[in-house]
Amino acid sequence: MKILFVVSEIYPVVKTGGLGDVAGALPVALAELGVDVRVMLPAYPAVLDAVEGLGEPVSLGDPLGAGETRLLRGRLPQSGVAVWLVHCPALYDRPAGPYLDAIGRDWPDNHLRFALLARAAATAAEAGSLLGWRPDVVHAHDWHAGLAPAYLHLRAGRRPATVMTVHNLAFQGNFPAAALGPVGLPPECFSIDGVEFHNQVSFLKAGIRYSDRVTTVSPTYAREILTPTLGCGFDGILRQRGADLRGILNGIDYRAWDPASDPLIERTYDAGHLARKDANKRAVADRLGLADAPAAPLIGVVSRLTDQKGVDLILGAIPSLLAMGARLAVVGSGDAVFEEGFRDAATAYPGRVGVWTGYDEPLAHLVQAGSDLLLVPSRFEPCGLTQLCALRYGTIPVVRRTGGLADTVSDASRGKEGTGFMFEAATSLALSGAVSRALAVYRKRPAWRVLQRRAMEQDFSWTRAAREYLDLYAEVTKGRARRPASASRKRK
Ligand code: ADP
Ligand code: GLC
Repeated sequence: MKILFVVSEIYPVVKTGGLGDVAGALPVALAELGVDVRVMLPAYPAVLDAVEGLGEPVSLGDPLGAGETRLLRGRLPQSGVAVWLVHCPALYDRPAGPYLDAIGRDWPDNHLRFALLARAAATAAEAGSLLGWRPDVVHAHDWHAGLAPAYLHLRAGRRPATVMTVHNLAFQGNFPAAALGPVGLPPECFSIDGVEFHNQVSFLKAGIRYSDRVTTVSPTYAREILTPTLGCGFDGILRQRGADLRGILNGIDYRAWDPASDPLIERTYDAGHLARKDANKRAVADRLGLADAPAAPLIGVVSRLTDQKGVDLILGAIPSLLAMGARLAVVGSGDAVFEEGFRDAATAYPGRVGVWTGYDEPLAHLVQAGSDLLLVPSRFEPCGLTQLCALRYGTIPVVRRTGGLADTVSDASRGKEGTGFMFEAATSLALSGAVSRALAVYRKRPAWRVLQRRAMEQDFSWTRAAREYLDLYAEVTKGRARRPASASRKRK
């Protein structure tokens, strides 16, 4: 089975969130099952610096009139993942992030930057003889790759099967209608049955509409997005895709997230030596300016600071969490209003609330290792990875019952054999209630240790997810392998 993964970020080279984690780890797990995976992504400067063994470039010409484009093929160091880089300096040779400029605005030509990624994927998928490799499946991730299934569907001739994975329905890649021509889509696509969404061109809708299968990253989120509440305006089209939609739960990379060998934490530990976690708690306190209070429960937050993540519920709950005797350790970045809110809280409660605003991978590991609880009060959560890391680190997750959080954490209140604590209402009060139930167990040391060990035993490795993707690839290629695009068009 040959798979071309099309994605806009990949850990450890370019990462803004869980998408990068998935792109860094799922291909490795698939390769371990014998799948031949190539990951296609833009040749951002950081990627060019990191990739090894670059072969001869292959010219793709100037497909969108945005600049000369070449494919560079190499490997990521450490994991050895094969990467195909779309090299177009006019679009990708820029400082700052993959999506935003240095002051946090979207790059004004993001429609071209990600259309080119998708176009290169479609071309490479067809140009088997040019590249000596033709995928059975093009697997597109999020809106950045959403046009790849569209380009392939609209071309005449043979094409590989296509899978579109939605990591977050709230990010849709919607652009003014005038973008249609520049991204190379024909006018007839601009309809309710095509890429049109509220009079804009939607890259995500293109992916959902034109791919053979649609997946998202947890079974519960796959159901939730069929409702107007969490469907972000796409519930109708997703319901139309019906049986072609499924949820495959993410995993985490237990090589990067293993408290017994993690080089980024103060002291390694395992389920048999949980007292060693205390050294990490002290290190978090040092790092974030918290008063030394080993007996006080430490509540960690590792998150984008956005409305999705429900961080306003945490801000509202701070007085009551502190009244319960807890300390708060926050590492996060995101909306200015939330960053400021947490910095203000650190000023208002010195020694009891410690905050670091920014993106810091080592600190994220340390906070996971040193905290007793991890808060994830998301309003919606397609999967969520931080609660999975917390479980592995014996750090008990307190989560809102939604999306992947509902699928990966079970409630341990009132003596139940759960792995964390859950609440329903998106309110600070409900969040405080769940923390209070957690702390009741925290104070009964033997019961807490049992809970920590149970959490650490959970298996959210990528191997299970990779098997499910492999089944999906087998299903989507079966019988339709290399069917001409015109035939598959008739089917829809
Ligand atoms: P999302 O992708 O919606 O942000 P996930 O839980 O799927 O949420 O993934 C978030 C990833 O980003 C995790 O690997 C988490 O450790 C990491 N992360 C989030 N915020 C920070 C931060 N400020 N510094 C370092 N890592 C972070
Ligand atoms: C998105 C979602 C998150 C998910 C991640 C990886 O960023 O917000 O829930 O874990 O993608 O799939």
